[in-house]
Amino acid sequence: MTAEEVLGVVTFYTMYHQKPMGKYHIQVCTNVSCMLRGGYEIWDQVKDKFGIDHLGITDDQKFSLEEVECMGSCGTAPMIAINEDFYENLSKEKVEALISGLE
Ligand code: FES
Repeated sequence: MTAEEVLGVVTFYTMYHQKPMGKYHIQVCTNVSCMLRGGYEIWDQVKDKFGIDHLGITDDQKFSLEEVECMGSCGTAPMIAINEDFYENLSKEKVEALISGLE
């Protein structure tokens, strides 16, 4: 397998990263269903809370953030994933409670 083939796979699938992510890797879906139900407001909320952007990591390495395409939970949009767990039917209040519980 060539390096280009590996890079193609790593850059296609969101579960692969080219650098270590935070202890809590937060993925925010902003695709159509989530976008229509507040996905970008949640994206901005999490960005502002931690002061990081797409694929950013907090200085203490505790949190990383990634904007992702559809994760297959459109019927319960908006949603985010923290590590392997999905959180659905979110509001800004629910997101605040969720991520504050991780600090
Ligand atoms: S659009 Fe967000 S999970 Fe499908």
